[in-house]
Amino acid sequence: MDDIIIKVEDLSIAYDDKPVLWDNDIDIVKNSRTAIVGPNGAGKSTLIKGILGLKKKLSGKVSIMGKDIREVKKEIAYIPQSSSVNWDFPTTVIDVVLMGRYVHLGWIKRPAKSDLKLAEEALEKIGMLEFKDRQISQLSGGQKQRVFIARAIAQDATIYFMDEPLAGVDNKTENVIIDFLKEAQKKGKTSVVVHHDLNTVKDYFDHIIILNKRVVAQGKVEDVFTRENLRKASMVGDFIV
Ligand SMILES: Nc1ncnc2c1ncn2[C@@H]1O[C@H](COP(=O)(O)OP(=O)(O)OP(=O)(O)O)[C@@H](O)[C@H]1O
Ligand SMILES: [Mg+2]
Repeated sequence: MDDIIIKVEDLSIAYDDKPVLWDNDIDIVKNSRTAIVGPNGAGKSTLIKGILGLKKKLSGKVSIMGKDIREVKKEIAYIPQSSSVNWDFPTTVIDVVLMGRYVHLGWIKRPAKSDLKLAEEALEKIGMLEFKDRQISQLSGGQKQRVFIARAIAQDATIYFMDEPLAGVDNKTENVIIDFLKEAQKKGKTSVVVHHDLNTVKDYFDHIIILNKRVVAQGKVEDVFTRENLRKASMVGDFIV
């Protein structure tokens, strides 16, 4: 039996009174690279928000490392879907990345030199160090996305949640992100990534959750990433074979 790091039981979530996810049981395997796939509006982003306690549940229970999310916040890095983020707040690139370090700071709340070093290394890794003093609002869409990747890298979390991190980034950045996830896996970390390109699922991930309001299938990519399951989630047309 694989170790389960996140257990979701009977999860239902609604906006106003319109349910968008119902009755979902999900096991996320420890040390996996797990993709969440499903059509637009399937509830992928909502699922992540539900797991992280950012969206109220109609019903259900989530446990992360056997605990409530509030007890393990420090262990979790989250990159929201970029189209849902307001990028206009007045702050510099390096400050955004340093936010990834704040979870580790005590009550004094001042980043140390070592935090700054980690933040700069993360920017270097993603090719954004030269922009470190730039206002975040003065970056291109893909560059902003890279800054948020750097923040997650700097955080050194146990579980990485990324909501479409590859949307709108160039090929080189895509490779850096995937290499980062593979390296993180070697260090025992787990990642949960909303992903749209079905053609790269097999290369990038080892586990998958196929979602369309309900979980259609979950498990190892080699077992459940099938045309039949994609058809059940109404997404066969996206898959070019
Ligand atoms: N703040 C909101 N208020 C009302 N309805 C919402 C809200 N956010 C999402 N929804 C609805 O909930 C459903 C699921 O949305 P969600 O953003 O989770 O989908 P998704 O699978 O992430 O889609 P995408 O691939 O487009 O990112 C959709 O029908 C969406 O219209
Ligand atoms: Mg989404």
